[in-house]
Amino acid sequence: MPRDESTRLHVGIIMDGNGRWAEARGLPRVAGHTKGARRVSEIVTAAPDLGITHLTLYAFSTENWQRPVAEVQGLMRLFRGYILGKMDSLRAHDVRVRFIGMRHRVPAHLRQLMDLLEDKTRACRGLNLTIAIDYGGRDELTRALRDIAAQAAGGALAPETIGEAAVAEALDTRDLPDPDFIIRTSGECRVSNFLLWQATYAEYAFLKLPWPDFTPAVLAEAVEGYRGRHRRFGLIGAQASAARAVAES
Ligand code: IPE
Ligand code: IPE
Ligand code: MG
Repeated sequence: MPRDESTRLHVGIIMDGNGRWAEARGLPRVAGHTKGARRVSEIVTAAPDLGITHLTLYAFSTENWQRPVAEVQGLMRLFRGYILGKMDSLRAHDVRVRFIGMRHRVPAHLRQLMDLLEDKTRACRGLNLTIAIDYGGRDELTRALRDIAAQAAGGALAPETIGEAAVAEALDTRDLPDPDFIIRTSGECRVSNFLLWQATYAEYAFLKLPWPDFTPAVLAEAVEGYRGRHRRFGLIGAQASAARAVAES
């Protein structure tokens, strides 16, 4: 079926299972993260051809800081290597990169690269790639509530005017549509603090295979499965079809 180019598709991926992938091969966990980072490049390249307009990748949670220091440092090194290695090609492929999450806990050298990559790709109009680093849905909501409370306390916002749009606007994802489809690899069936507000009506797929084994062919199959689903948004029949068309346009 020819694809309507105006259709928007926001896919989120909880990239889980790197450590177990490595441990099953007798390798250190960081080897799984290294392999996982290579998969990120393949998936980013493949996404537009599958009709994906927005891709949001969960790379590091607010809870992941509690892992052993060596693993955390290994991950920070990999993020740095990914940005340095892919900066030019992401721009050349018209990929607009954004980061969501708390930036101040990230090492300064990495934070500077994150800022630089966002700046360098700001004018890109192809795939919208969002990478969640030091991201937690509860933290994001807490920060948003703090902002809203400060505005209200300062008199800039009347509490009775605060609606869902004001909350959405205060989140890190203010420039992004809600995710349509969220995939989690590695067999766990949980959301682990990912896009708690935004995923209210997202479809989910929980796949058994670990992230380092996730290929573009697997993504294509998952997206095909998503396209066969019926999203209803709490509605029935034709109402639901109309709501789906609005959500995806
Ligand atoms: C996902 O893989 C990467 C991060 C959470 C940073 P894991 O490191 O969680 O791998 P498993 O789940 O322990 O196998
Ligand atoms: C979720 O994976 C976070 C990322 C993929 C970045 P975790 O491995 O941290 O989640 P839990 O601990 O299994 O819930
Ligand atoms: Mg995990």
